[in-house]
Amino acid sequence: MAQEDVFKKIVSHCKEYGFVFPSSDIYDGLGAVYDYGQNGVELKNNIKQYWWQSMVLLHENIVGIDAAIFMHPTVWKASGHVDAFNDPLIDNRDSKKRYRADVLIEDQIAKYDEKIEKEVAKARKRFGDAFDEKKFRETNPRVIEHQQKRDALHQRYADAMNKMDLAELKQIILDEEIVCPISGTRNWTDVRQFNLMFKTEVGSTAEGASTIYLRPETAQGIFVNYLNVQKTGRMKLPFGIAQIGKAFRNEIVARQFIFRMREFEQMEMQFFVKPGTEMDWFKTWKKTRLAWHEALGFGDECYRYHDHEKLAHYANAATDIEFKMPFGFKEVEGIHSRTDYDLSQHAKFSGRKIEYFDPEENRSYTPYVIETSIGVDRMFLSVMCHSYTEEKLENGETRVVLKLPAALAPIKLAIMPLVKKDGLPEKAHEIMNDLKFHFNCKYEEKDSIGKRYRRMDAIGTPYCITIDHDTLNDNCVTLRDRDTMEQTRVPIADLRSLIEDKVSITSLLKKLQ
Ligand code: GAP
Repeated sequence: MAQEDVFKKIVSHCKEYGFVFPSSDIYDGLGAVYDYGQNGVELKNNIKQYWWQSMVLLHENIVGIDAAIFMHPTVWKASGHVDAFNDPLIDNRDSKKRYRADVLIEDQIAKYDEKIEKEVAKARKRFGDAFDEKKFRETNPRVIEHQQKRDALHQRYADAMNKMDLAELKQIILDEEIVCPISGTRNWTDVRQFNLMFKTEVGSTAEGASTIYLRPETAQGIFVNYLNVQKTGRMKLPFGIAQIGKAFRNEIVARQFIFRMREFEQMEMQFFVKPGTEMDWFKTWKKTRLAWHEALGFGDECYRYHDHEKLAHYANAATDIEFKMPFGFKEVEGIHSRTDYDLSQHAKFSGRKIEYFDPEENRSYTPYVIETSIGVDRMFLSVMCHSYTEEKLENGETRVVLKLPAALAPIKLAIMPLVKKDGLPEKAHEIMNDLKFHFNCKYEEKDSIGKRYRRMDAIGTPYCITIDHDTLNDNCVTLRDRDTMEQTRVPIADLRSLIEDKVSITSLLKKLQ
């Protein structure tokens, strides 16, 4: 199945099984805004819990905060977002559609990559086992030509973005003969800068009202609380402050479902370090964060680092952790070395002294910062994409199963009486009332057992138990494993110990030690 079709199926699966709905669905939705349903919110909460505990429980020197979304407007002047948090936009005069110039060019680069991959795939098919891919890439004239064009374009694009040379971005679009996907024409306007922050007003009267912004990143809530936390928590460098919360960006190109949203959630940690040690900490956090992803067991080949060529206005080094989505490797998390930019800027704009007194060196200085920043929604999407599986069964049927890591699954155990009579529902409820304190259970009595298993497979429930007539005599139930579909008879008294450890966030955290 084409990857595009797989992605479409995942999007409709998310809606059909209560994971993600378009926002204001009965009004036909709102662009790039989504709601999480009854299963989605559980999965999302488990992702957040996994992140929070990996930061705050596993590191003695990391604490959490929960800052407000609204902040003093000067915060965004100081942080550089008012002046520099822009996307380069271009309009097509015929279709009247607006695009991000950088995205149009990146799509063009991806087209060269696709052409190269097609040549390689064709050759692989032709030569079979004897195929030497490295040699083919180095010697095939068509591949070499595409690669040269791609590299030249990439270099030109990176230079233009680093200088934010808007005229050059437009020239690249013209030279590459990029057309509007709607009108098919090259009738482009000039490229302009567009600020991504949403504005609103506080204050009840028109005269008294002042413009404030919806935060475009949660990080600034941490920076403005650096002194509060350092002093009240008596924190010693190096230390970190973690936060999970909503962020808002007026994204122009909103696409790929919950990959790029206008309202989304971030999990950010700012790690304050002594100046001069930041590159070592940058490397450490790159490794630590990749290990966090890999502990989910999707396979190391699903991830790669992507070092930034164009650095954000605050960074001196930056890497993305990319995940292999059905639409290619895409950024899920950013790790940035933010220097002392933010704290120094806030010191300048607020007039406060924002420093750290180092008792060992007997001097004060502004700490440097390593940031790890991951989008909850993108993480959710990566988990969904990897877990969605269609399996052909021996009887010819297809089963759709979400092979979610058990610790992230919305429901851990489905409890099913074989029939709705003979005391079986009562026995099932008795088990439920005992186990519900330890993990998320769901009582299911409607439809045949087969149908109930399929429903649970589709939402990724790792275990189901069936209570039958024998249960009333032997106090045993049939335990069914989602992935192997194996069924075993187990004593009710053993259920908790058999399941709890495998479905707990602790089981994931232990892999990180
Ligand atoms: N504080 C740094 C910062 O915000 P970023 O690379 O702009 O850096 C960090 O964003 C992460 O937030 C991204 O890696 C991504 O997972 C998530 N993110 C950013 N914009 C998003 C959007 N429009 N929709 C969903 N997630 C987004």
